[in-house]
Amino acid sequence: MTGRIHLAENLEVLRALPSASVDLIYIDPPFNTGKVQRRTQIQTVRCAEGDRVGFQGRRYQSIVVGTKRFRDLFDDYLAFLEPRLTEAYRVLARHGCLYFHVDYREVHYCKVLLDTIFGRDAFLNEIVWAYDYGGRPKDRWPPKHDNILLYAKDPSDHVFNVDEIERIPYMAPGLVGPEKAARGKLPTDTWWHTIVPTSGSEKTGYPTQKPLGILRRIVQASSRPGAVLLDFFAGSGTAGVAAIQLGRRFILVDDNPEALAVMARRFDGIEGIEWVGFDPGPHQQRARQRGLFPAPAVQEGRPGARPA
Ligand SMILES: C[S@@+](CC[C@H](N)C(=O)[O-])C[C@H]1O[C@@H](n2cnc3c(N)ncnc32)[C@H](O)[C@@H]1O
Repeated sequence: MTGRIHLAENLEVLRALPSASVDLIYIDPPFNTGKVQRRTQIQTVRCAEGDRVGFQGRRYQSIVVGTKRFRDLFDDYLAFLEPRLTEAYRVLARHGCLYFHVDYREVHYCKVLLDTIFGRDAFLNEIVWAYDYGGRPKDRWPPKHDNILLYAKDPSDHVFNVDEIERIPYMAPGLVGPEKAARGKLPTDTWWHTIVPTSGSEKTGYPTQKPLGILRRIVQASSRPGAVLLDFFAGSGTAGVAAIQLGRRFILVDDNPEALAVMARRFDGIEGIEWVGFDPGPHQQRARQRGLFPAPAVQEGRPGARPA
């Protein structure tokens, strides 16, 4: 198998995966889960005419003290992530690692959650992916980075192929001598890398697509050839492309048919991919030409969904 791609709610797929069955996980969850709710905060005070009855028949009056929209935003987000990260921990092999890609505005909340699931000692790195693109506000330093948290299931015994990581040029090659300069240096936890170029062959059109160079570095460092990489917020399938290029296998999950359509085009012509809950045929020119799929039929219902 090269890989398996699911059109599905990821929690269902995670729950069906055997424990310790994947070697590496990369995820890039969306912040907006669409589940934010306004919760009104109530305080109670003792009062003979109160609307609530408590211990030993005492009466209390409820007072609305505020609406915690901001807290709810994070409570809901973390409540969405928590069961998925707990499953991620379970399905990860003992030598495996999780890379958690997140926006600088949410990273601290997510780190606390991951510390509770993996353990504080399992935290290995906070990688800063720095880029330089887009607008520059005039009232603060322009924020131009994402964070990628790295956790190991077993911090004393995890895969890290230090000798296989592609080396990068020294900033001041003149200071290190010609031999070292020619070899380049090991990247640190700060990764300078462009965003996906707005024109060019890498761009799929999927709005949140991440650069292949970032994923290649992760896969190269933290998995061995033949390993299984899991991305359960797969989007355009960048993690799968990196896996194929580096001789690894993959499991990708996304619940958005548009993402599956993009992946169908991206993986067109690649042998050995199993599609679950989605028919890639209508999106795949090359596969059709090679007779791997019948000609696209007009489908009813959700675009790209497998007919019942
Ligand atoms: C930020 S994007 C990932 C982008 C991806 N790293 C790439 O390079 O294209 C997050 C993806 O998670 C998917 N998603 C959100 N909630 C999901 C869920 N509960 N189950 C499966 N996929 C989900 C969205 O449809 C979206 O495509």
